[in-house]
Amino acid sequence: MSDIFTKLAYQTFQQSKALFALTHKNLTSQLLNLIYPPVNQLQTKPLSSELLEQFRQRFELIIEADWQDAERGIYPESLLFDNPWEDFFRYYPEICLDLPKGWQRRHENQFQDFSPEIDTEGYPNYYRRNFHYQTDGYFSDTSANLYDLQVELLFNGAADPMRRRILAPLKEGLQTFNSISPKQIRVLDVACGTGRTLRMIRATLPQASLFGTDLSPAYLRKANELLSEIPGELPQLMQAKAEELPYRDNYFHGVTCVFLFHELPPTIRQQVIEQAFRVTQPGGVFVICDSIQAIDFPELMPMMENFPAMFHEPYYRHYITDNLVERLQKAGFENITTQNHFMSKYWIAHKPQ
Ligand SMILES: C[S@@+](CC[C@H](N)C(=O)[O-])C[C@H]1O[C@@H](n2cnc3c(N)ncnc32)[C@H](O)[C@@H]1O
Repeated sequence: MSDIFTKLAYQTFQQSKALFALTHKNLTSQLLNLIYPPVNQLQTKPLSSELLEQFRQRFELIIEADWQDAERGIYPESLLFDNPWEDFFRYYPEICLDLPKGWQRRHENQFQDFSPEIDTEGYPNYYRRNFHYQTDGYFSDTSANLYDLQVELLFNGAADPMRRRILAPLKEGLQTFNSISPKQIRVLDVACGTGRTLRMIRATLPQASLFGTDLSPAYLRKANELLSEIPGELPQLMQAKAEELPYRDNYFHGVTCVFLFHELPPTIRQQVIEQAFRVTQPGGVFVICDSIQAIDFPELMPMMENFPAMFHEPYYRHYITDNLVERLQKAGFENITTQNHFMSKYWIAHKPQ
C-alpha cells in the first residue's frame, strides 16, 4: 500500500515539475517574441500535435522506467525525490533575470562573451563558448549555480530520470567484479559537472570509491558542495580534460559520461572514448548518456533541429548523426548495446576480459 502512495507521490512530483517547466517556457517564449519579434529570430520548426503527443508519451514512459528501477532495488526510492530545493528557490529568480542576456547573445550570435574577470586562457577553443548562450559558459560560479535548474526546465523535470537510466546498466556491468568487495569498486564519472550523476551513483553504490573529472573549476566547486551534503565518502574530484584523463591504465571498474558528447567536436569524441577504454579495467563497463540521435527517431527530427537553432550547440548537428557504436568498437570496446529513454540515448560498452 505504501508503495502505491510513493508511486503516486513520485508521479505527482514529476508532473508538477513538468507543468512548472512548460509554464516557464510558454511565458518566457512569449516575452522573447515581444522583445525579438519572430522575423528577427532564428527560425525554429513548428511541432505538430502528433509529435507533442509522442513527447508526452515518452515522458510518461521514462517516469515509469524510473519508478520500476527504484522498485526493483537498483537505487533507493528516496533518490526519486532528490531535489536541491534550496537551490530551486534561490536560483529560479536569478535564471529569469539572466534570460534577457542569453536572448541578446542569441540575437547577436555572440557565443564568446565572458565577464571581464573570467580567464579562458589555456582552455580548448571548442570549450571557450557560451553553450546555450548561457552567461559565462562553464566558467563562473553563477553559471554553475544556475545550471541544474536550467537543465531541469529544458527537459520538463526529466533531466534526473534521464541521468538515472545509466544506473541499471552500470550496476549490471559491475557484476563481473562480484568476487571483490564493494569497497574496492572504483567508478569514474567523466565531465561530472555539478555532480548530479555522482550523487545518484553514491546512492546506488554506497560503498564504492567514486571519482569525477570536469574541465570547469566552478562546476567542480559546485559538485563538491552538493556531494558534501550526502552520506558516504566524498568522491574525489579533479579538473581534467576528458580527452586526457589523469589516471593510470585499467584503473576503474566502471566509467560513466552524461550529456558531454554532443558538446564535443567529432575528433575529441573519439579521443574521450579511447581514454575511457584506457582507464577501464578488462571486464569493466563504460556507459554513455546523451541526446537521442536522428537514426533512432527520424520523426523527432524537428525537435533535434530546433535545439541548435535555439541554443549555441555547434557540435550537436554532427553528433546526432555520429556513429558512436563504431567509435566504441574502434577503441576496443565490445558487447555494445544501446537504449533510448525520453530524449536520451545510452551506449553500454564492455572492455574485453
Ligand atoms: C552539459 S554539461 C553535463 C554535466 C553533467 N555530466 C550533467 O549530467 O549535468 C557538460 C559538462 O562537460 C564539461 N566539459 C565539456 N568539455 C569537456 C572536456 N573536454 N573535458 C572535461 N569536461 C568537459 C563541462 O564543463 C560541463 O560541466
